[in-house]
Amino acid sequence: MNNENKKYHILTYGCQMNVHESEKIAGILTKLGYEYEEVAENADVIVFNTCCIRETAEQKILGHVGTFKKLKKKKPWLKIVMCGCMTQQEGKGEEILKNYPYVDLILGTHNIAELESRLNNLSKQKVYVQKTDGYLNEEIPSTRTSMPNAWVNIIYGCNNFCTYCIVPYVRGRERSRSIQSVYQEVEGLVREGYKEITLLGQNVNSYGNDLNDGTNFAKLLRELTKIDGKFRLRFMTSHPKDFTDEVIDAIASDKRICKHVHLPVQAGSNNMLKAMNRKYTREQYLELVEKIKTRLPGVGITTDIMVGFNGETEEDFLQTLDLVEKCKFSSAFCFVYSRRKGTAGYNMTNIVPQDIKKDRIKRLITLQNKITRQLNSNYIGNVFEILVEDVNPKFENTYCGRTECGRLVNFKSDTDIRNKFVKVKVNKGTTATLWGEITEVE
Ligand code: 5AD
Ligand code: SF4
Repeated sequence: MNNENKKYHILTYGCQMNVHESEKIAGILTKLGYEYEEVAENADVIVFNTCCIRETAEQKILGHVGTFKKLKKKKPWLKIVMCGCMTQQEGKGEEILKNYPYVDLILGTHNIAELESRLNNLSKQKVYVQKTDGYLNEEIPSTRTSMPNAWVNIIYGCNNFCTYCIVPYVRGRERSRSIQSVYQEVEGLVREGYKEITLLGQNVNSYGNDLNDGTNFAKLLRELTKIDGKFRLRFMTSHPKDFTDEVIDAIASDKRICKHVHLPVQAGSNNMLKAMNRKYTREQYLELVEKIKTRLPGVGITTDIMVGFNGETEEDFLQTLDLVEKCKFSSAFCFVYSRRKGTAGYNMTNIVPQDIKKDRIKRLITLQNKITRQLNSNYIGNVFEILVEDVNPKFENTYCGRTECGRLVNFKSDTDIRNKFVKVKVNKGTTATLWGEITEVE
């Protein structure tokens, strides 16, 4: 089928993995002859790349799908596709079709590559959700739009089964790419001019375990630093239980590996950590944070924290606040626990009432904001290397970029300095952003 002059739009929900997966979806659509269209309403195919980590995500997505009912009537040739984590859940595809029968195609997380053949051959069967998770999406080309940043998957899936989490059910077991394959991709990206490569995995620290040949994350990092050129290497997410000394040494071994560790703690009490099946204690986490800070001076540690998991008492929650106070995270993503069907947490009793959850999340965010402000004020007067990522459209001649440890900084420039490394002296800070002036351009 000829798709010339046809346009696609992708709506992405959820984490960085999905953002990158949307680049692969864009790659497939480009191969099919579609062009990118910024306004969803003007597109001929709209893809919803979905998330199901919390119920709110699913509600938001379905609400959005609902808004396209009218458009589909007006434009019967419009194709609506749904894929990603939400659609991989058992029976979900059929459930979606009951309420949104005008959706044309539903693909599970292991069926992305099928988009190419299915889109041109829509049929009565609309749901394709494969249960097995044996393959890697390695051959799918990416259409990247994020210069100077590029995302690279190193491991797919998760073996951890934290009791609240649906990811292992919708992403399958851990599958690592080979060092060689990751190396080739990163080298190619650096050659193309990308300056910041972020290695992605639900748990990058278990990279290589499934390869059974001694490969591990530290070795991968060291291999990648053999690539010539000025670029930054980031990685996320790290599971505290698997964060080894060898990884700390690898980070310390090359300045191009960012001293930024995203280390989700989830909760600060041992009762909750146990109920969540996190496999580390509060004491072990605190010790790890201390070790990382000592061996990687200037490191930024960020985290994810959940409040209101089943059985969480005020005492448990106070332990979370205490841990947050002690760790001084440079930022924390704070979530209210959401019950997910199919997880072990779904069947637990001791559900925390909604009003208590709301109260706790407010107190947690207030505390972290106070810490972020304190840390930001410590930055004032210091000079940081920043990779200029974009213009800040809200202000004239203003650009923005991130420090090594991930803090966003704004600064003025009369010339276009995007994709360059600059040195910036920070002179002002609010909770969210820092401001500074350029002292040196690469
Ligand atoms: N409810 C709320 N937050 C969740 N997360 C994972 N599962 C849930 C859930 N059921 C959070 C965790 C994880 C982040 C990506 O999302 O904090 O680290
Ligand atoms: Fe979910 Fe735990 Fe796996 Fe992270 S490590 S994806 S929280 S099960």
